[in-house]
Amino acid sequence: MNVSIIGTGYVGLSTAAGLASKGHRVICVDKDPSKINAVKAGKSHFYEEGIEEALAMALSKGLLEATMDTAYAVKNSDITFICVGTPSDDSGKINLDYIKDASAEVGIAMKGNQGHVVVVKSTVVPGTTETVILPILQKYSKNFGLCMNPEFLREGKALEDFLHPDRIVVGELDRKSGDALSKLYEGFGAPVIRTKLSAAEMIKYASNVFLASRISMINELGNICKKLGIDVYDVANAIGRDKRIGPHFLEAGAGFGGSCFPKDVSALQHRAEEIGCETGMMEQILKTNASQRRVLVELLKKKTSIKGKKIAVLGLAFKEDTDDIRESPAIDIIEMLKKEGASVYAYDPKAADNMKRIYPEVTYCSVADALKDAEACLILAKWKEFSSLTDRDFAAMKGRIIIEAKKVLDASKVKDFEGICW
Ligand code: UGA
Repeated sequence: MNVSIIGTGYVGLSTAAGLASKGHRVICVDKDPSKINAVKAGKSHFYEEGIEEALAMALSKGLLEATMDTAYAVKNSDITFICVGTPSDDSGKINLDYIKDASAEVGIAMKGNQGHVVVVKSTVVPGTTETVILPILQKYSKNFGLCMNPEFLREGKALEDFLHPDRIVVGELDRKSGDALSKLYEGFGAPVIRTKLSAAEMIKYASNVFLASRISMINELGNICKKLGIDVYDVANAIGRDKRIGPHFLEAGAGFGGSCFPKDVSALQHRAEEIGCETGMMEQILKTNASQRRVLVELLKKKTSIKGKKIAVLGLAFKEDTDDIRESPAIDIIEMLKKEGASVYAYDPKAADNMKRIYPEVTYCSVADALKDAEACLILAKWKEFSSLTDRDFAAMKGRIIIEAKKVLDASKVKDFEGICW
Protein backbone atom coordinates (compact mmCIF):
# COMPACT_ATOMS: atom_id res chain seq x y z
CA MET A 1 0.00 0.00 0.00
CA ASN A 2 1.02 3.65 -0.30
CA VAL A 3 1.39 5.28 3.10
CA SER A 4 2.22 8.81 4.21
CA ILE A 5 3.45 9.55 7.71
CA ILE A 6 3.23 13.00 9.30
CA GLY A 7 5.98 13.49 11.90
CA THR A 8 9.41 11.88 11.94
CA GLY A 9 9.88 11.42 15.66
CA TYR A 10 10.73 7.96 16.94
CA VAL A 11 7.15 6.74 16.40
CA GLY A 12 6.80 8.16 12.88
CA LEU A 13 10.20 7.05 11.71
CA SER A 14 9.95 3.57 13.24
CA THR A 15 6.53 3.16 11.65
CA ALA A 16 7.97 4.31 8.30
CA ALA A 17 10.97 1.99 8.49
CA GLY A 18 8.82 -0.92 9.67
CA LEU A 19 6.14 -0.54 6.98
CA ALA A 20 8.78 -0.12 4.25
CA SER A 21 10.50 -3.28 5.44
CA LYS A 22 7.16 -5.04 4.90
CA GLY A 23 7.14 -3.80 1.29
CA HIS A 24 4.84 -0.78 1.63
CA ARG A 25 5.73 2.48 -0.12
CA VAL A 26 6.16 5.22 2.47
CA ILE A 27 6.40 9.02 2.29
CA CYS A 28 7.60 10.78 5.46
CA VAL A 29 6.59 14.37 6.15
CA ASP A 30 8.10 16.82 8.62
CA LYS A 31 8.25 20.58 8.97
CA ASP A 32 11.91 20.53 9.89
CA PRO A 33 14.11 20.48 6.75
CA SER A 34 17.06 18.98 8.63
CA LYS A 35 14.95 15.98 9.65
CA ILE A 36 13.72 15.51 6.08
CA ASN A 37 17.25 15.74 4.69
CA ALA A 38 18.37 13.19 7.26
CA VAL A 39 15.66 10.71 6.18
CA LYS A 40 16.61 11.25 2.54
CA ALA A 41 20.15 10.27 3.46
CA GLY A 42 18.99 7.23 5.44
CA LYS A 43 19.85 8.91 8.74
CA SER A 44 17.87 9.38 11.91
CA HIS A 45 18.02 12.57 13.98
CA PHE A 46 17.88 10.45 17.17
CA TYR A 47 19.56 7.23 18.21
CA GLU A 48 17.41 4.14 17.74
CA GLU A 49 18.70 0.61 17.28
CA GLY A 50 18.55 -0.63 13.67
CA ILE A 51 16.66 2.37 12.33
CA GLU A 52 19.33 3.72 9.98
CA GLU A 53 19.95 0.30 8.46
CA ALA A 54 16.20 -0.09 7.86
CA LEU A 55 15.92 3.41 6.35
CA ALA A 56 18.89 2.78 4.05
CA MET A 57 17.37 -0.51 2.91
CA ALA A 58 14.01 1.16 2.23
CA LEU A 59 15.70 3.94 0.21
CA SER A 60 17.70 1.45 -1.82
CA LYS A 61 14.49 -0.39 -2.72
CA GLY A 62 12.76 2.87 -3.70
CA LEU A 63 10.17 2.41 -0.94
CA LEU A 64 10.92 5.56 1.04
CA GLU A 65 10.58 9.27 0.28
CA ALA A 66 10.74 12.30 2.55
CA THR A 67 9.19 15.70 1.97
CA MET A 68 8.00 18.85 3.72
CA ASP A 69 4.99 18.92 1.39
CA THR A 70 2.00 17.38 3.20
CA ALA A 71 -0.25 17.78 0.15
CA TYR A 72 2.17 15.83 -2.07
CA ALA A 73 2.46 13.04 0.51
CA VAL A 74 -1.30 12.74 1.07
CA LYS A 75 -2.16 12.89 -2.63
CA ASN A 76 0.34 10.10 -3.34
CA SER A 77 -0.85 7.71 -0.65
CA ASP A 78 -3.94 5.76 0.42
CA ILE A 79 -3.40 5.99 4.16
CA THR A 80 -1.96 8.85 6.24
CA PHE A 81 -0.61 8.24 9.75
CA ILE A 82 -0.48 11.25 12.06
CA CYS A 83 2.49 10.75 14.39
CA VAL A 84 3.15 14.24 15.72
CA GLY A 85 3.95 14.97 19.38
CA THR A 86 1.25 15.54 21.99
CA PRO A 87 3.23 17.09 24.86
CA SER A 88 1.78 18.11 28.23
CA ASP A 89 1.44 21.69 29.33
CA ASP A 90 2.66 22.76 32.78
CA SER A 91 -0.53 21.55 34.48
CA GLY A 92 -0.19 18.08 32.90
CA LYS A 93 -2.97 18.69 30.39
CA ILE A 94 -2.37 17.38 26.88
CA ASN A 95 -1.41 20.01 24.28
CA LEU A 96 -3.16 19.30 20.99
CA ASP A 97 -1.73 22.19 18.96
CA TYR A 98 0.52 20.06 16.74
CA ILE A 99 -2.10 17.44 16.05
CA LYS A 100 -4.73 20.07 15.25
CA ASP A 101 -2.37 21.73 12.76
CA ALA A 102 -1.45 18.38 11.20
CA SER A 103 -5.13 17.40 10.94
CA ALA A 104 -6.00 20.64 9.17
CA GLU A 105 -3.16 20.16 6.69
CA VAL A 106 -4.18 16.57 6.01
CA GLY A 107 -7.83 17.63 5.69
CA ILE A 108 -6.95 20.26 3.10
CA ALA A 109 -4.66 17.86 1.23
CA MET A 110 -7.34 15.11 1.11
CA LYS A 111 -9.82 17.36 -0.71
CA GLY A 112 -10.83 15.51 -3.85
CA ASN A 113 -9.29 12.18 -2.73
CA GLN A 114 -11.84 9.37 -2.44
CA GLY A 115 -11.66 6.92 0.43
CA HIS A 116 -8.38 8.17 1.89
CA VAL A 117 -7.88 6.81 5.42
CA VAL A 118 -6.43 8.98 8.20
CA VAL A 119 -4.88 7.12 11.12
CA VAL A 120 -4.13 8.86 14.40
CA LYS A 121 -1.08 7.25 15.98
CA SER A 122 -0.18 10.13 18.28
CA THR A 123 -1.25 9.51 21.86
CA VAL A 124 -4.43 11.49 22.53
CA VAL A 125 -6.82 11.35 25.48
CA PRO A 126 -10.04 9.36 24.95
CA GLY A 127 -12.52 11.22 22.79
CA THR A 128 -9.98 13.41 20.98
CA THR A 129 -10.03 11.64 17.61
CA GLU A 130 -13.81 11.82 17.34
CA THR A 131 -14.48 15.20 18.92
CA VAL A 132 -11.41 17.21 17.91
CA ILE A 133 -9.69 15.61 14.90
CA LEU A 134 -12.77 14.40 12.99
CA PRO A 135 -14.43 17.85 12.89
CA ILE A 136 -11.18 19.44 11.66
CA LEU A 137 -10.89 16.87 8.85
CA GLN A 138 -14.59 17.29 8.01
CA LYS A 139 -14.17 21.04 7.72
CA TYR A 140 -12.05 20.50 4.62
CA SER A 141 -12.91 17.06 3.22
CA LYS A 142 -15.52 14.36 2.99
CA ASN A 143 -15.51 10.68 1.97
CA PHE A 144 -12.51 9.74 4.07
CA GLY A 145 -11.94 7.01 6.64
CA LEU A 146 -10.63 7.53 10.17
CA CYS A 147 -8.85 5.19 12.60
CA MET A 148 -6.99 5.47 15.87
CA ASN A 149 -4.07 3.07 16.06
CA PRO A 150 -2.07 3.45 19.29
CA GLU A 151 1.60 2.54 19.35
CA PHE A 152 3.29 0.40 21.98
CA LEU A 153 6.88 1.07 20.93
CA ARG A 154 9.66 1.27 23.47
CA GLU A 155 12.36 3.79 22.60
CA GLY A 156 15.54 1.92 21.79
CA LYS A 157 13.54 -1.09 20.65
CA ALA A 158 10.93 0.73 18.58
CA LEU A 159 11.57 -1.01 15.27
CA GLU A 160 11.66 -4.44 16.87
CA ASP A 161 8.41 -3.67 18.71
CA PHE A 162 6.79 -2.38 15.53
CA LEU A 163 7.66 -5.53 13.61
CA HIS A 164 6.78 -7.94 16.43
CA PRO A 165 3.79 -6.50 18.26
CA ASP A 166 1.93 -8.39 21.00
CA ARG A 167 -1.30 -6.98 19.53
CA ILE A 168 -2.45 -4.38 17.06
CA VAL A 169 -5.27 -2.11 18.15
CA VAL A 170 -7.47 -0.67 15.42
CA GLY A 171 -9.94 1.93 16.62
CA GLU A 172 -12.33 2.66 13.77
CA LEU A 173 -14.89 5.29 12.93
CA ASP A 174 -16.61 2.76 10.67
CA ARG A 175 -16.07 -0.78 9.42
CA LYS A 176 -14.57 0.29 6.07
CA SER A 177 -11.85 2.43 7.72
CA GLY A 178 -10.94 -0.43 10.04
CA ASP A 179 -10.81 -2.91 7.16
CA ALA A 180 -8.32 -0.71 5.28
CA LEU A 181 -6.01 -0.37 8.28
CA SER A 182 -6.29 -4.06 9.20
CA LYS A 183 -5.23 -4.93 5.65
CA LEU A 184 -2.06 -2.88 6.08
CA TYR A 185 -1.18 -5.00 9.11
CA GLU A 186 -1.75 -8.34 7.41
CA GLY A 187 1.30 -10.55 7.82
CA PHE A 188 2.37 -9.11 11.20
CA GLY A 189 1.26 -12.31 12.93
CA ALA A 190 -0.33 -10.45 15.84
CA PRO A 191 -3.96 -10.39 16.95
CA VAL A 192 -5.79 -7.34 15.63
CA ILE A 193 -8.21 -5.90 18.18
CA ARG A 194 -10.89 -3.82 16.51
CA THR A 195 -12.79 -1.36 18.60
CA LYS A 196 -14.19 2.15 18.63
CA LEU A 197 -11.95 5.21 18.44
CA SER A 198 -12.18 6.25 22.09
CA ALA A 199 -11.54 2.70 23.34
CA ALA A 200 -8.35 2.54 21.23
CA GLU A 201 -7.24 5.84 22.77
CA MET A 202 -8.00 4.52 26.26
CA ILE A 203 -6.13 1.25 25.63
CA LYS A 204 -2.95 3.27 25.03
CA TYR A 205 -3.28 5.21 28.29
CA ALA A 206 -4.38 2.17 30.26
CA SER A 207 -1.31 0.26 29.05
CA ASN A 208 1.10 3.00 30.04
CA VAL A 209 -0.59 3.75 33.36
CA PHE A 210 -0.58 0.05 34.21
CA LEU A 211 3.10 -0.36 33.34
CA ALA A 212 3.98 2.79 35.28
CA SER A 213 2.03 1.47 38.27
CA ARG A 214 4.09 -1.72 38.28
CA ILE A 215 7.28 0.33 38.41
CA SER A 216 6.09 2.50 41.30
CA MET A 217 4.84 -0.60 43.13
CA ILE A 218 8.13 -2.48 42.75
CA ASN A 219 10.03 0.65 43.83
CA GLU A 220 7.89 0.99 46.95
CA LEU A 221 8.39 -2.70 47.73
CA GLY A 222 12.09 -2.22 46.93
CA ASN A 223 12.45 0.54 49.50
CA ILE A 224 10.94 -1.74 52.15
CA CYS A 225 13.24 -4.57 51.02
CA LYS A 226 16.30 -2.32 51.28
CA LYS A 227 15.46 -1.43 54.91
CA LEU A 228 15.00 -5.13 55.70
CA GLY A 229 18.23 -6.22 53.99
CA ILE A 230 16.39 -8.04 51.20
CA ASP A 231 17.29 -7.87 47.50
CA VAL A 232 14.09 -6.76 45.74
CA TYR A 233 15.28 -8.43 42.51
CA ASP A 234 15.06 -11.82 44.26
CA VAL A 235 11.53 -10.93 45.27
CA ALA A 236 10.66 -9.72 41.75
CA ASN A 237 12.07 -12.88 40.23
CA ALA A 238 9.82 -15.01 42.39
CA ILE A 239 6.62 -12.99 42.11
CA GLY A 240 7.14 -12.60 38.36
CA ARG A 241 6.88 -16.37 37.94
CA ASP A 242 3.28 -16.21 39.03
CA LYS A 243 1.45 -16.20 35.69
CA ARG A 244 -1.07 -13.74 37.08
CA ILE A 245 1.73 -11.25 37.73
CA GLY A 246 4.28 -11.97 34.96
CA PRO A 247 7.99 -11.09 34.88
CA HIS A 248 8.05 -7.76 33.04
CA PHE A 249 8.35 -4.24 34.40
CA LEU A 250 9.45 -5.36 37.82
CA GLU A 251 12.87 -3.71 37.75
CA ALA A 252 13.22 -1.42 40.71
CA GLY A 253 15.35 1.67 40.20
CA ALA A 254 15.33 5.45 40.32
CA GLY A 255 11.84 5.56 38.81
CA PHE A 256 10.52 5.85 35.31
CA GLY A 257 11.31 8.68 32.93
CA GLY A 258 10.92 9.27 29.22
CA SER A 259 8.47 11.10 27.05
CA CYS A 260 5.57 8.74 27.71
CA PHE A 261 4.87 7.41 31.20
CA PRO A 262 5.08 10.68 33.16
CA LYS A 263 3.17 12.61 30.48
CA ASP A 264 0.53 9.96 29.89
CA VAL A 265 -0.25 9.35 33.56
CA SER A 266 -0.66 13.12 34.04
CA ALA A 267 -2.77 13.57 30.92
CA LEU A 268 -5.21 10.79 31.82
CA GLN A 269 -5.38 12.05 35.39
CA HIS A 270 -6.19 15.52 34.12
CA ARG A 271 -8.91 14.19 31.79
CA ALA A 272 -10.33 12.04 34.61
CA GLU A 273 -10.57 15.06 36.87
CA GLU A 274 -12.42 16.98 34.15
CA ILE A 275 -15.09 14.26 34.09
CA GLY A 276 -15.23 13.94 37.87
CA CYS A 277 -13.36 10.65 38.37
CA GLU A 278 -11.00 10.10 41.28
CA THR A 279 -7.39 9.31 40.42
CA GLY A 280 -5.75 8.55 43.75
CA MET A 281 -3.82 5.60 42.33
CA MET A 282 -2.40 7.63 39.45
CA GLU A 283 -1.47 10.45 41.81
CA GLN A 284 0.45 7.99 43.95
CA ILE A 285 2.23 6.45 40.93
CA LEU A 286 3.69 9.88 40.14
CA LYS A 287 4.42 10.73 43.79
CA THR A 288 6.29 7.48 44.38
CA ASN A 289 8.15 8.00 41.12
CA ALA A 290 9.28 11.50 42.04
CA SER A 291 10.45 10.49 45.51
CA GLN A 292 12.47 7.55 44.17
CA ARG A 293 15.13 9.92 42.81
CA ARG A 294 15.47 11.42 46.30
CA VAL A 295 15.87 7.94 47.79
CA LEU A 296 19.06 7.47 45.79
CA VAL A 297 20.57 10.82 46.82
CA GLU A 298 19.58 10.27 50.46
CA LEU A 299 21.34 6.90 50.38
CA LEU A 300 24.47 8.61 49.08
CA LYS A 301 24.25 11.37 51.70
CA LYS A 302 24.03 8.80 54.48
CA LYS A 303 27.42 7.49 53.41
CA THR A 304 29.31 10.72 52.89
CA SER A 305 28.97 14.45 52.83
CA ILE A 306 28.99 15.40 49.19
CA LYS A 307 29.63 19.15 49.45
CA GLY A 308 32.67 20.02 47.37
CA LYS A 309 33.21 16.38 46.38
CA LYS A 310 33.57 14.91 42.93
CA ILE A 311 30.66 12.60 42.10
CA ALA A 312 30.71 10.40 39.00
CA VAL A 313 27.34 9.89 37.31
CA LEU A 314 27.23 7.11 34.72
CA GLY A 315 24.13 6.89 32.51
CA LEU A 316 22.20 10.06 31.67
CA ALA A 317 19.55 8.85 29.23
CA PHE A 318 16.15 8.06 30.76
CA LYS A 319 17.05 4.43 30.11
CA GLU A 320 19.62 2.42 28.18
CA ASP A 321 19.80 2.25 24.35
CA THR A 322 18.51 5.74 23.72
CA ASP A 323 19.92 9.28 23.62
CA ASP A 324 16.64 10.63 25.00
CA ILE A 325 16.92 12.43 28.33
CA ARG A 326 13.33 13.62 28.67
CA GLU A 327 12.21 13.21 32.31
CA SER A 328 15.37 11.22 32.94
CA PRO A 329 16.04 10.42 36.61
CA ALA A 330 19.55 11.78 35.93
CA ILE A 331 18.17 15.32 35.50
CA ASP A 332 16.66 15.41 39.00
CA ILE A 333 19.58 13.58 40.57
CA ILE A 334 22.17 15.94 39.06
CA GLU A 335 20.05 18.89 40.24
CA MET A 336 20.08 17.52 43.81
CA LEU A 337 23.82 16.84 43.66
CA LYS A 338 24.48 20.39 42.45
CA LYS A 339 22.30 21.84 45.22
CA GLU A 340 24.32 19.86 47.74
CA GLY A 341 27.48 21.46 46.35
CA ALA A 342 28.90 18.40 44.57
CA SER A 343 30.96 18.62 41.47
CA VAL A 344 29.45 16.30 38.87
CA TYR A 345 31.44 14.37 36.26
CA ALA A 346 29.13 12.55 33.89
CA TYR A 347 29.27 9.93 31.17
CA ASP A 348 26.69 8.42 28.83
CA PRO A 349 27.37 6.50 25.61
CA LYS A 350 24.76 8.48 23.64
CA ALA A 351 23.00 11.11 25.72
CA ALA A 352 25.81 13.41 26.94
CA ASP A 353 25.24 16.03 24.21
CA ASN A 354 21.56 16.26 25.08
CA MET A 355 22.29 16.62 28.81
CA LYS A 356 24.87 19.31 28.05
CA ARG A 357 22.03 21.56 26.93
CA ILE A 358 20.42 21.35 30.39
CA TYR A 359 23.57 21.27 32.50
CA PRO A 360 26.45 22.91 30.62
CA GLU A 361 28.30 23.27 33.94
CA VAL A 362 28.64 19.49 34.42
CA THR A 363 31.88 17.92 33.18
CA TYR A 364 31.14 15.37 30.45
CA CYS A 365 33.93 12.86 30.06
CA SER A 366 34.90 9.21 29.72
CA VAL A 367 34.08 6.65 32.41
CA ALA A 368 37.76 6.62 33.43
CA ASP A 369 37.89 10.42 33.84
CA ALA A 370 34.60 10.43 35.73
CA LEU A 371 35.82 7.79 38.17
CA LYS A 372 39.31 9.23 38.72
CA ASP A 373 39.45 10.64 42.28
CA ALA A 374 35.66 10.56 42.60
CA GLU A 375 34.21 10.28 46.10
CA ALA A 376 31.25 8.30 44.84
CA CYS A 377 29.83 6.83 41.66
CA LEU A 378 26.13 6.66 40.78
CA ILE A 379 25.12 4.37 37.93
CA LEU A 380 21.73 5.50 36.70
CA ALA A 381 20.99 3.64 33.46
CA LYS A 382 21.43 0.04 32.42
CA TRP A 383 23.80 0.49 29.48
CA LYS A 384 25.33 -2.87 28.63
CA GLU A 385 28.88 -1.50 28.68
CA PHE A 386 28.57 -0.78 32.43
CA SER A 387 28.30 -4.50 33.10
CA SER A 388 31.90 -4.95 32.01
CA LEU A 389 33.24 -2.46 34.58
CA THR A 390 35.56 -4.14 37.07
CA ASP A 391 37.28 -3.35 40.36
CA ARG A 392 40.23 -2.11 38.31
CA ASP A 393 38.05 0.70 36.87
CA PHE A 394 36.73 1.67 40.30
CA ALA A 395 40.22 1.52 41.88
CA ALA A 396 40.87 5.01 40.48
CA MET A 397 38.20 6.45 42.79
CA LYS A 398 39.14 8.35 45.94
CA GLY A 399 36.21 7.05 47.96
CA ARG A 400 34.64 3.65 47.47
CA ILE A 401 30.94 4.42 47.26
CA ILE A 402 29.23 2.84 44.28
CA ILE A 403 25.44 2.89 44.05
CA GLU A 404 23.55 1.56 41.09
CA ALA A 405 19.99 2.59 40.29
CA LYS A 406 19.42 -0.35 37.95
CA LYS A 407 20.97 -3.77 38.40
CA VAL A 408 23.80 -3.60 35.89
CA LEU A 409 27.16 -4.23 37.59
CA ASP A 410 28.52 -7.76 37.55
CA ALA A 411 29.08 -8.88 41.14
CA SER A 412 31.80 -11.28 40.00
CA LYS A 413 33.80 -8.29 38.68
CA VAL A 414 33.04 -5.61 41.26
CA LYS A 415 33.10 -5.85 45.06
CA ASP A 416 31.49 -3.42 47.47
CA PHE A 417 28.66 -1.78 45.67
CA GLU A 418 25.02 -1.53 46.45
CA GLY A 419 21.76 -0.87 44.71
CA ILE A 420 19.07 1.64 45.46
CA CYS A 421 16.72 -1.18 46.55
CA TRP A 422 19.14 -4.06 47.14
C1 UGA B 1 6.88 3.18 26.98
C2 UGA B 1 6.11 1.87 26.78
O1 UGA B 1 6.90 0.78 27.24
C3 UGA B 1 5.75 1.65 25.31
O2 UGA B 1 4.94 0.49 25.19
C4 UGA B 1 4.98 2.88 24.83
O3 UGA B 1 4.63 2.75 23.47
C5 UGA B 1 5.82 4.11 25.02
O4 UGA B 1 6.12 4.25 26.41
C6 UGA B 1 5.00 5.28 24.53
O5 UGA B 1 3.97 5.57 25.12
O6 UGA B 1 5.29 5.81 23.45
P1 UGA B 1 9.42 3.94 26.70
O7 UGA B 1 9.03 5.15 27.49
O8 UGA B 1 10.19 4.11 25.47
O9 UGA B 1 8.13 3.07 26.31
O10 UGA B 1 10.34 3.04 27.63
P2 UGA B 1 10.14 1.84 28.66
O11 UGA B 1 11.07 0.77 28.27
O12 UGA B 1 8.73 1.48 28.84
O13 UGA B 1 10.69 2.50 30.00
C7 UGA B 1 10.07 3.63 30.58
C8 UGA B 1 10.76 4.00 31.87
O14 UGA B 1 10.48 3.02 32.87
C9 UGA B 1 12.28 4.06 31.77
O15 UGA B 1 12.74 5.14 32.53
C10 UGA B 1 12.72 2.74 32.36
O16 UGA B 1 14.03 2.77 32.91
C11 UGA B 1 11.68 2.55 33.45
N1 UGA B 1 11.49 1.15 33.85
C12 UGA B 1 11.02 0.24 32.96
C13 UGA B 1 11.76 0.77 35.15
O17 UGA B 1 12.18 1.59 35.99
N2 UGA B 1 11.56 -0.52 35.51
C14 UGA B 1 11.09 -1.46 34.65
O18 UGA B 1 10.92 -2.63 35.07
C15 UGA B 1 10.82 -1.06 33.35
